[in-house]
Amino acid sequence: MADQEAEHVKFPRQYEHGGVTFLEFVNPDIVRDPGIVSCREDDVFVASYPKSGTTVTIEMVALLLNGADVEANRSAPQNVRVPMVELYFKMFIRFRWFFFFFMKIYSFLPAILRYRYLKIPLLTPEELDSTDGLKFVEKLPRPRLIKCHLPYQFFPTQAIQKKCKIIYIARNPKDVVVSLRYHLKNLPPYFYWGPWDTFYRTFIDGKMCHGDWFDHVIEWWNHREERNILFLKYEDLIKRPRETVRETARFLDVEVTKDMEDRILDHCSFKNMKENPSVNFGGSGFIRKGIIGDWTNYFTVAQDKEFDKLYGKRMRGTGLDFEW
Ligand code: A3P
Repeated sequence: MADQEAEHVKFPRQYEHGGVTFLEFVNPDIVRDPGIVSCREDDVFVASYPKSGTTVTIEMVALLLNGADVEANRSAPQNVRVPMVELYFKMFIRFRWFFFFFMKIYSFLPAILRYRYLKIPLLTPEELDSTDGLKFVEKLPRPRLIKCHLPYQFFPTQAIQKKCKIIYIARNPKDVVVSLRYHLKNLPPYFYWGPWDTFYRTFIDGKMCHGDWFDHVIEWWNHREERNILFLKYEDLIKRPRETVRETARFLDVEVTKDMEDRILDHCSFKNMKENPSVNFGGSGFIRKGIIGDWTNYFTVAQDKEFDKLYGKRMRGTGLDFEW
């Protein structure tokens, strides 16, 4: 469905604001005025550039906040427990009743037909409601846990002003672009699988949805010293999960026993998350490989060289680096 002829990937109805490209599912009202999101002092946000390990971070944070109650985490899809505030799926919102009845009938089809061939995720009524993130977060009980992929300059202003806790997760950009490619392959209505070269070029030129990776990550990194912001790395979460759980617990000001830590680590392991329907968003491939270095299977030698040069230039003087 995307325009594959162009030098850059262009998704239907994508738009630009302040030099950042957004998919149509990002609420333009929030992007134009991030002050419209009403926040409470005890809100906790998980923020990231997409495909950086947001889903697993949300599971970890939710368990830290609920006393490691794994059953509560499994009780509902993650997008209902922890909605994305900027999500705005106009079609679902406008024709909610049509989709409500469609899903009822659709649910009778065998799962294999739905996920493998038709590829439309099966949504519960709550998931349909969560496609209007701004309204849906209003209904959440306090303390709320909220997901947000917006760059710092478009992030809910009140969250920053009221010093809500914000946990930002970042991942090395080479793995991000590969993961994003698979994500868009499974994302309705795009199911985009255009040439890798075009996809890579769009990302490296900062024209990918959610904008330039360097701008997104470096801006949040520059605010990491603020007491309400915790900057985490996906690679640490994979390699040093226990330390990352402890660091996050300290930031959230919650006590964790060894038993709670073990439960969190077990729930957040790649294997268990892969088998957990509540974090798989209707079989959409969110939990794919979960490794560091999958990019080596996609980057050509020339692309790798070019990327390293850009990385060196953009990251110089920031003090930020990633393992890959
Ligand atoms: P890959 O596509 O490289 O496998 P997000 O949640 O921000 O969309 O990020 C998705 C990426 O995190 C995917 O990367 C996914 O496999 C990975 N991931 C999800 N759960 C994970 C886990 N428990 N451990 C390691 N990686 C995980």
